[in-house]
Amino acid sequence: MDKYIINGGKRLTGEVEISGAKNAAVAIIPATILADEPCILENVPSINDVTIDLRILRELGADVKMLNRNTIRIDPRPIRDMPVPYELARSMRASYYFLSTLLNRFGHAQVPMPGGCYLGDRPMDQHLKCFRSLGAKYSIEHGVVNIEADTLYGTHIPFDKVSVGATINAMLAAVKAEGQTIIENAAKEPHIVDLANFLNSMGADIMGAGTDVIKIKGVSRLHGAEYAIIPDQIEAGTFMIAVAATKGDALIKNVIPKHLEPITSKLRKIGVVVMEYDDSVRVIGQGNYEHTMVRTMPHPGFPTDMQPQFAALLTLANGTSIINEGIFDNRFRYADELRRMGADISVDGKMAIIEGVDHLTGAPVKATDLRAGAALIIAGLSTDGVTEIEDIYHIERGYDNMDGKLRAMGADIVKRTFSESIRQAI
Ligand code: UD1
Repeated sequence: MDKYIINGGKRLTGEVEISGAKNAAVAIIPATILADEPCILENVPSINDVTIDLRILRELGADVKMLNRNTIRIDPRPIRDMPVPYELARSMRASYYFLSTLLNRFGHAQVPMPGGCYLGDRPMDQHLKCFRSLGAKYSIEHGVVNIEADTLYGTHIPFDKVSVGATINAMLAAVKAEGQTIIENAAKEPHIVDLANFLNSMGADIMGAGTDVIKIKGVSRLHGAEYAIIPDQIEAGTFMIAVAATKGDALIKNVIPKHLEPITSKLRKIGVVVMEYDDSVRVIGQGNYEHTMVRTMPHPGFPTDMQPQFAALLTLANGTSIINEGIFDNRFRYADELRRMGADISVDGKMAIIEGVDHLTGAPVKATDLRAGAALIIAGLSTDGVTEIEDIYHIERGYDNMDGKLRAMGADIVKRTFSESIRQAI
């Protein structure tokens, strides 16, 4: 029920510090269950999906302490053998990582089917295939996945399609299996590499993360570790596009420029100036951008998680742009909302055609999912007038202090809580 109110048309300038990667954090936090000692995680983003992960760990009995805003100490030793609470698991996608980690720890796990953004059908067949290959049995009853195996045995797992979540679950399950596991057709996203680095720092033996083939030699124990999570490439890309859309000039700090290459090259192609430094990028927006074609693909292709934000920018480019969504069936729900602001977008299945317009106008809109919400923020910042974005809980699931960071760069954006809205209405 909380809203963002944006008074758009202000250039974003100065600098912004990017937080730790959401999709790495939500894999690494449950991975601590595999250790037989405490772990300390640094650069953890302060976002709602992390809060839910930590609540699940606490409900299971882990000793979780915030050492500061972004550093957490997790002692997994007191974790009890019990089902993951239904409502918590259902409120995020990454709760499925408790399947592999609890299975490893107790020989069985009961984890409700995950939730997360609605982007079309999101089956779990590849996750289940990997558990079955490793020797586990499973059933799905009353919305809960039950899985068990006395011992997990290393094996070949040739995935039928590239899946980030299934690759991570396979790594988390195989890391302590007996013998060697070879994952083929693995996802190559930066957070896959980050998880492998974390597990290796705990004593795992994982090679090839970041390529199509990951080889894992099972180990009998994993010790505690102190580890800093990589910067969030999607948050960084979102800020890059926001700067471009407001014709701003800003430094995006704490990034790994290599991870941003697919985004950087598309931005340059339409006329945005991007300068790369060791751990920052400077973006200079000029306006008058050219149309382009975008096709989302698994890493190192253009990320589906940047597609809505890039579309928001293309609504203001010259000519006709085409977006092909190559990962999810239904990732254009934001198009209706952008149309309220004057965008000219037509959607045909997994393709969107955008005719660039001169300007957008502020309007009341709804965030239909996490990245759709980020696209609406970008659209709102780029236009004169007031944009009110409802359902911002989607945005807060994955962006750390988005409104505060934008304000520090010169944006006029405030968060109005539900009770403030009621007070204003009476
Ligand atoms: C992860 C990310 C999400 C990102 C997506 C693609 C997390 C927590 N979420 O989601 O932000 O948008 O990767 O980069 O890391 N699929 C199957 N069977 C399966 C699993 C997936 O058919 O068992 C399909 C999906 O429906 C989708 C495609 O494979 O069409 C890719 O999905 P996947 O990579 O698994 O995405 P998630 O792990 O859910």
